[in-house]
Amino acid sequence: MNEMNNVGADRLSRRMERGCTFLGSEVAIMAGAMSWVSERNLVSAMSNAGGFGVIACGAMTPALLDAEIAGTKALTERAFGVNLITMHPQLDELIAVCAAHGVGHVVLAGGLPPKGSLEAIKASGAKVICFAPTLALAKKLIRSGVDALVIEGMEAGGHIGPVSTSVLAQEMLPEIADKVPVFVAGGIGRGEAIAGYLDMGAAGVQLGTRFVCATECVAHPNFKRAFIRASARDAVASVQIDARLPVIPVRALKNAGGELFTAKQREVAQRLDESAVAMAEAQLEIEHYWAGALRRAVIDGDIEHGSVMAGQSVGMVTKEEPIADIIAALMTEAADALHKRAA
Ligand SMILES: Cc1cc2nc3c(=O)[nH]c(=O)nc-3n(C[C@H](O)[C@H](O)[C@H](O)COP(=O)(O)O)c2cc1C
Repeated sequence: MNEMNNVGADRLSRRMERGCTFLGSEVAIMAGAMSWVSERNLVSAMSNAGGFGVIACGAMTPALLDAEIAGTKALTERAFGVNLITMHPQLDELIAVCAAHGVGHVVLAGGLPPKGSLEAIKASGAKVICFAPTLALAKKLIRSGVDALVIEGMEAGGHIGPVSTSVLAQEMLPEIADKVPVFVAGGIGRGEAIAGYLDMGAAGVQLGTRFVCATECVAHPNFKRAFIRASARDAVASVQIDARLPVIPVRALKNAGGELFTAKQREVAQRLDESAVAMAEAQLEIEHYWAGALRRAVIDGDIEHGSVMAGQSVGMVTKEEPIADIIAALMTEAADALHKRAA
């Protein structure tokens, strides 16, 4: 960060102050939880580099999460968070594991928090961060006592909503940014964009795609190579093929796995037709399919048949580099952009 000019750097640290205080980090940049990717190595490296790492619990059992948190604590003394999926059947037990470890921040993803979960997390002294898909839901979540919100646009990698980051930011920040810290996610690849969202009132940002090729990330070399080769237009959203089977779209690199997903949807839709499976079960089956396909790509390196979840910012990922260098580049770009603003 040495080359950063002082005026820009001062403006940046002032704009990040609220987010840093909330997260307990040096920079208000979160590495969004990525299933199979965001484990102890990436999470601790992110927090050690001054950012805020978040463990992706995904489908882990409470025992596995317990081990992952302990492993992360062994690698960093800094703050990090844990991302829990709201439809996990053992959500209460997972919350208890976080509480037992004194985890400071729990991120609830995958839908609105079920009754009692917010209270259970807050009772442990942890802060709760939720995703707000619309302004109305953001206001409702704030009324329910969430401590911070993430707004994530459809440019992001993984499961996505229908609206772009720039529109969500314009709709939501003016209304809610003064109530709770809001972190903007989806499609952020450079610091100029970070500066822009901070100027609009964001407390900080959350990036996923940009951190996949960090040296410290355990993703298979094939997975990283696919990111380095890809351009923005390769990161496409999955298509829903049956109106009765509402599938949350997933953004991933185009490959044969996309075709396999279409076939999977057809198969599940047919079993719905035959009443061989209930709707909730059908939807869960689709979610399990994604988790398995992502593991196949991230861990086994099968980037042709697995799911290479990636956001549109993938075109700005050009090499493998230490996470501290990624953070430094983002901060320099953001500070330079703020320096150019009129005083
Ligand atoms: C490979 C991959 C896996 C992801 N898995 C999860 C997940 O398990 N839970 C979650 O809340 N978000 C998940 N995300 C979303 C990220 O946490 C983050 O919000 C998103 O990547 C931000 O957008 P960006 O990719 O444009 O930077 C995933 C994203 C990617 C690229």
